[in-house]
Amino acid sequence: MTIIFAHRGSSGTHPENTFAAYKEAVRVGAEGIELDVQLTKDDELVVIHDHTVGRTTNGTGFVRDYTLEELQRLDAGAWFHERFQGERIPVLKEVFTWMQSNDLILNIELKNVTVDLPCLEELVLNEIESFNLADRIIISTFDHYSLKKINELNPKIECAILYLEKLYEPWNYAANIGAKGLHTHSPKTDRVMIKEAERRGFPVRVYTVNHEERIKELLEDGCSAIFTDYPEKALAVRKMV
Ligand code: G3P
Repeated sequence: MTIIFAHRGSSGTHPENTFAAYKEAVRVGAEGIELDVQLTKDDELVVIHDHTVGRTTNGTGFVRDYTLEELQRLDAGAWFHERFQGERIPVLKEVFTWMQSNDLILNIELKNVTVDLPCLEELVLNEIESFNLADRIIISTFDHYSLKKINELNPKIECAILYLEKLYEPWNYAANIGAKGLHTHSPKTDRVMIKEAERRGFPVRVYTVNHEERIKELLEDGCSAIFTDYPEKALAVRKMV
């Protein structure tokens, strides 16, 4: 069965990367959540997509220039709709604590491709270890050196290459760095590639797919997972296929 991941939570209907969006994803029945992790000035693991806070909070400037305490004073919900006022930027530890009460799979995207976040890998791995969540987490990033490092530090954690364009025989490329999954951009993903990869045991998880027609195609193509801002739509399509 193709797993449905809520991309940044149910981000089509709720403010992305907030507990409101994560809880909505669970409510509608998504099996997984995708979220984005960065470091604060005081090296705390926080969940936010952009490197700056301006688009999704009432603050300005770079995430990396805020301490955790400063960051948590920002409102991360009102920009989306006033009824979400009071939502905060989640700390990864809070998400892991919440995961004790559900059976979600979590895809952590490390936001370390354009910004240098030293020791991000070690910090994330330690947190996973301390919550005993190794078998419910997939780590991805566009920085494939980082994935290689994670695989060397802890080969038990599933890593997946995240990429935008086409790769030639991506399963060979992934295997070379110890990655076990392929997170592919929907417009660059085709049926033949999905079938070839899945046949070789490399799950293909496709981002970010919001149109029902495309969701249906990908379900028929047999990909392992779909990332969507509207998990309720994808789940409804999946019922019909
Ligand atoms: O992780 C899949 C997808 O989220 C990658 O794109 O822009 O949301 O980081 P982006």
